Amino acid sequence: MILVAGGAGYIGSHTCVELIKHGYEILVLDNFSNSSAKVFDRLKKITDQDIPYVDVDICDEAGLESVFSTYDIQAVIHFAGLKAVGESMLNPLVYFENNIAGTSTLLKVMKRHTVKHMIFSSSATVYGEINPSPYQESMQTGMPTNTYGYTKLVVEQMLQKLDQAEEGWSIALLRYFNPIGAHPSGLIGEHPKGIPNNLLPYVTQVAVGLREKLSIFGGDYDTADGTAVRDYLHVVDLAVAHVLALKNRLDHTGCDIWNVGTGNGYSVLDIKNTFEQVNQLQVPFEIVARREGDLASFYADSSKIQNELGWEVQYQLDDMLAHSWNWQKNNPNGYESA
Ligand code: NAD
Ligand code: UD1
Repeated sequence: MILVAGGAGYIGSHTCVELIKHGYEILVLDNFSNSSAKVFDRLKKITDQDIPYVDVDICDEAGLESVFSTYDIQAVIHFAGLKAVGESMLNPLVYFENNIAGTSTLLKVMKRHTVKHMIFSSSATVYGEINPSPYQESMQTGMPTNTYGYTKLVVEQMLQKLDQAEEGWSIALLRYFNPIGAHPSGLIGEHPKGIPNNLLPYVTQVAVGLREKLSIFGGDYDTADGTAVRDYLHVVDLAVAHVLALKNRLDHTGCDIWNVGTGNGYSVLDIKNTFEQVNQLQVPFEIVARREGDLASFYADSSKIQNELGWEVQYQLDDMLAHSWNWQKNNPNGYESA
């Protein structure tokens, strides 16, 4: 069975769907710090399965021990982490404890039970400011501009050192670019608590009337229209990448890195304009000052994941923006409106 740590969250829940579709037996582990157990009712509608889950924190060694003693776990897909950039700058210790110490505890218990396959949710933020786009996996990592990103870099390095030191580990570091969109059914999606930090949840919350207007951070970047460029990818394509990485890791040892991005860059204005056009609505906006720590442009070189794992993008920008809106309009308050 595959343990999906953080499987109740945005990317984890979409990955559960794809794992089940591909015939894997799964167990979700989550402490629900940023998710709701209501997601399992929605997942049942999509997959026709009751997905088993345990309410356990990855920092709780005894809790993990009990899970690994009870279930026959073959591999771990590790999504369990905190991801709010601003909060990470205010409360670094919370991020060190949850993301770094939590992962170390999880690895310790995995080792005790000879479970040595892990797929880890990393981020393109580890490329830092020193590298030009398109980012390639062979580039030296830089220093992420925020503490959240720093925890991703530290965990990547921990996993690499573990693999160098000990035989038998099989680890994938998946460096996500900007996942957006939602399952085409509109039953699962992303609903951040509080004011969204990321672009798409902000756009959809303006469109649904929860927020007044979109602030576009910076109109004077050295890009075609002056707004910053990112590599947006559909969360279902990202979920499929996990299934492919898992299949690969179950047959290999060592630690390998794959970018998960489409290789296409879109500006903030492209996103706003395409969202309006695809969904036939208006998103009021203003251009304001740049956000500290933002880069002008980043996108992936996605040839490694395409060539080595056979990953192909199924969804284009129109689909991502239609599906984001489909989820938000049907669930204006996320799972709370269920
Ligand atoms: P999310 O917050 O929706 O999902 C994370 C899940 O992990 C949540 O269900 C949360 O309750 C759970 N969790 C957090 N700490 C835990 C702990 N100590 N023990 C058990 N469960 C815990 O976030 P997401 O967008 O689905 O992201 C999943 C992973 O991917 C995270 O590690 C995130 O840092 C990483 N990532 C996300 C993005 C993005 O844009 N969403 C980009 C790069 C990397
Ligand atoms: C951010 C984080 C990154 C993290 C990633 C995924 C920063 C500096 N970087 O990346 O560490 O891995 O999220 O969680 O926070 N934008 C607006 N208005 C908004 C929101 C965003 O104009 O209200 C712009 C941003 O300036 C950026 C683009 O939209 O140019 C995308 O922003 P966002 O979704 O926050 O992702 P990243 O900045 O790429």
